[in-house]
Amino acid sequence: MNIQSAYNYSGMPAPKPLRFPPGKTLPEELSIVMKRIEAYGVVYPDGYYQTLLEKYTREGVRYPHILMILGQPRINNHFYYSRALKGTGRLLDYGCGTGDNVRQLIRDGFPRERITAFDINWASINLGFDLYRDREEIHDLFTVSDTFPFGPAEFDLVYSASVFQVIAEDEELRNYLANAWSALTPGGILFGSTFGLGEGAISSPNEWGPPRVMLREQLTSSLTGAGFTCLDIVQRYHVPHYVTDRDNKCVFEFCTKKPA
Ligand SMILES: C[S@@+](CC[C@H](N)C(=O)[O-])C[C@H]1O[C@@H](n2cnc3c(N)ncnc32)[C@H](O)[C@@H]1O
Repeated sequence: MNIQSAYNYSGMPAPKPLRFPPGKTLPEELSIVMKRIEAYGVVYPDGYYQTLLEKYTREGVRYPHILMILGQPRINNHFYYSRALKGTGRLLDYGCGTGDNVRQLIRDGFPRERITAFDINWASINLGFDLYRDREEIHDLFTVSDTFPFGPAEFDLVYSASVFQVIAEDEELRNYLANAWSALTPGGILFGSTFGLGEGAISSPNEWGPPRVMLREQLTSSLTGAGFTCLDIVQRYHVPHYVTDRDNKCVFEFCTKKPA
């Protein structure tokens, strides 16, 4: 099993936990991620490693890849981030996963009362709570539902990181973008990132990749097709998340606007 096979899930709960890639084990990866998160000032009580190890040995880790990258938020490297931090409106993290990006926003001074994090399941959110031990402090920021629970024009910023890539069906992606559009105020900004392929590559998902790997043109047509304008796309790599320039893979960061 290749390292990227852990991406192989839709947004819905997987039937059973996925396996760690060859050479990676739960005890080792858990230890690495706990050290990484301690660097943010999280203090683990005695025996906590053992408690988590037993829990995740018993239950399995639903998404091993997500455990392996936990504690390495990406929002703060996004080209729009400094402008987002200066915004005065509300932000929705749409498909928030573990909440790494929400915690980064809070660390960087974005007022917590202006943040909402939404996902369609609790799996990664709960993993984040286990590792950061902050369920009590920030659980109120998270909402989980099968259906999009927000009304029109509730947010000035919508952040979407690594979500398009896990949505296999075109119609579901159109719905997702229509929700983002509807939730934004006129003039509001959708920014985020998705897994992509550089120029000249053939856009066909393979067994190891996430279900949707977009070419720049496909990303452009999805966003403009949903009505967004003023689109900026920047091609990046992200080594901590295993996206290097190998095989023409990349991350496309985007920023686009709902017309005022
Ligand atoms: C690869 S994870 C990325 C999580 C997070 N945004 C990050 O950057 O770490 C993709 C997340 O998108 C969520 N997701 C998939 N489809 C979704 C949808 N239609 N609406 C909301 N969230 C969705 C999944 O449940 C998962 O937590």
